[in-house]
Amino acid sequence: MGLVKTFRSVVRFKPIELDPTKRKLAGAANVEDLRRLAKRRLPGGVFDYIDGGAEDELSLRRNVSGYGRIEFKPRVLRDVSKIETGTTLLGRPIAMPLVLAPTGFTRIADPQGELAVARAAARAGIPYGLSTMGTRTIEEVAAVSDGPKWFQVYTWRDRSLVRQLLERAAAARFDAIELTIDTAVLGRRERDVRRGYTLPPKVGLATLIDGLLHPAWTIDFLRNDPITFASVAEENPAGDGSSAVTLSEYINAQFDPALSWGEIEWLRSVWDGPIVLKGIQTVADAELAVEHGVDAIALSNHGGRQLDGAPSIIELVEPVAQAVGGRIEIIADGGVRRGSDIVKAVALGANAVMAGRAYLYALGAAGEAGVDHLLGFLAEGMERTMALTGCREVADINRELVTWRDR
Ligand code: GLV
Repeated sequence: MGLVKTFRSVVRFKPIELDPTKRKLAGAANVEDLRRLAKRRLPGGVFDYIDGGAEDELSLRRNVSGYGRIEFKPRVLRDVSKIETGTTLLGRPIAMPLVLAPTGFTRIADPQGELAVARAAARAGIPYGLSTMGTRTIEEVAAVSDGPKWFQVYTWRDRSLVRQLLERAAAARFDAIELTIDTAVLGRRERDVRRGYTLPPKVGLATLIDGLLHPAWTIDFLRNDPITFASVAEENPAGDGSSAVTLSEYINAQFDPALSWGEIEWLRSVWDGPIVLKGIQTVADAELAVEHGVDAIALSNHGGRQLDGAPSIIELVEPVAQAVGGRIEIIADGGVRRGSDIVKAVALGANAVMAGRAYLYALGAAGEAGVDHLLGFLAEGMERTMALTGCREVADINRELVTWRDR
C-alpha cells in the first residue's frame, strides 16, 4: 500500500502530445538536437551539403568553438525584472540583434523553403536575407513577409541580370542588399566532392537508396515543384538551376572573379538603399568598406564553406570594431548556436549576428515550426543571458561583460 502511495505521489505522466512535429520539437533543447533531427530526416547528400564546409572544415569548427573561448563577467543585483532585446539595424527597429543569413537552395531542406524562413523571421521581428541562389522568388518572399528583408547578390558576369534582380528587389520593397564578396571561386567542399553531389539533387543509384532511407523527405521532394533558382530563372534560363550541376561548375561559370572595389560604385548606381558587404575577413578590408561608403559589413567566412583557415568570426569582431566601429555597422556571421553567443558578439562590438546553418537544421528537422522553435530558443537564451549578466537592454552589453579565457 505504502509503496503504491509513494509511487503515485512521485510519478507525473506528461500529457501526450498528439502533433508529431510538436512532439519532436519538445525534445529539441538546442541547435545540436535540431541538427540531429535534420540528419535523421534528410538524405545524406542533402544533410552534408548543409552541414559541411570547405576542406578540413577548420573554419567551420572554429566559428563555433571561438565562442567557447569567451567567459562572462556577470554583474548581479541589477534589477533584471524587465529585459529588452530590441535594437536597430540599418535604421530599422528589430526585436533582437539577429539576422537570418541568405542560404541557397533552401527548398532542399523543406518544400516551403525560403517562404517558411521569411515568415518565421517576420513573426520574430528580425531581418531575413533572401539569396540570389534562392529557390523562391523575390516576389513570393515579399508576398509572405512585411518584416525587414534583405536581398543577397553575387555578381554574375552578366551585370544586366544583377541590375534586373535589384530592380525587382526595390519594387518588392526589400530594405537592403548584401553583396557576397568571399566567393570569387567556389570553396572545395569535400563532402560534396566525395558524393558527386549536384544541385538540385540528381537521382542516381546512390541517391535513390538514400531517398528510400529517408521517405518523408523524398515524398515531399517528389510531390513539390522542381527546385530552381527561382529569382534568376526568368532572366537567365540557361543557368536556372533546374538541371543538375555541381555548384562549382555553376558558380565558376556564372560569377565574375574580376569583382573588385569599383563594383560598389556600380551597385550604388543601380540600388538606392543600404548596402551590406558580406564576407569581410580582415581589419584592412573593413577599413576599405568604410572608405567606400557601404552601410554595414558582415564579418563572414561563408560559414566555413569558402576559404578553409579563414579567421574565426567571433575573434575578428573586436579588432574590427576597434578600427571601424561607430562608422559602420558590424554583423558577425557564423558559429552562433545560442542566445548567449549573441550577447558575446554584441559585447565585443558587433551590432548584430547572422546565422544560417542553425535555421537550416531547424527547417530540415521540422519545417517552419522548427524555425519558429529555433528563433524562440535564441531569443529566450539571449534574455536569460542578459538577466544572468545584469543587462537590462542591448546598450548595457559592453566590453566589460566578457573576457577571453586564454589570452
Ligand atoms: C552557397 O552559397 C553555398 O555556400 O553553398
